[in-house]
Amino acid sequence: MSLLPIIVVPDPVLKETARPIEHITPEVKQQATDMLETMYDAPGIGLAANQVGRLNRMFVMDTTYRKEASSRNPIVMINPKIVWRSEEISVMEEGCLSIPHQFAEVERPKAVRVQYIDLKGQKVEYLGEDLESHCIQHELDHLNGVLFIDYLSRLKRTMILRKVEKLKKDGVIL
Ligand code: NI
Repeated sequence: MSLLPIIVVPDPVLKETARPIEHITPEVKQQATDMLETMYDAPGIGLAANQVGRLNRMFVMDTTYRKEASSRNPIVMINPKIVWRSEEISVMEEGCLSIPHQFAEVERPKAVRVQYIDLKGQKVEYLGEDLESHCIQHELDHLNGVLFIDYLSRLKRTMILRKVEKLKKDGVIL
């Protein structure tokens, strides 16, 4: 197990599209373990492969995260695909480990049904609502090179990117 460095904007890997995973190899399982460890350590509720410099279609999520390990509910989604979106919209404040300390409200479908492959190679269908819905869509966006700031006005996006630059300059983040 090892913590992976989290890539921060404006690294171009965050704008790339990740490729489907064809086989659940030991390397893929190790990547899932490392990504979960990295997400819990951050701490965050979701982490996508692009954010650790891997361009394969995997993300990890645990919206129930509390400090106690016993309350963890880790979910690993491989080759996720949204097959249904609710008409009802939800607005929630989102953040991103690749855009540290920045938050903004994002509008998304309030519920989504997602199909994915789990670490056993089995096809799973999962209904995510509210925070989970935001998280699934946010992480799946990462695999397509899309960030939550891409939904904001150009002015707001530029302001956020400048703030991250300043945090780097000030040594608050790497
Ligand atoms: Ni993110």
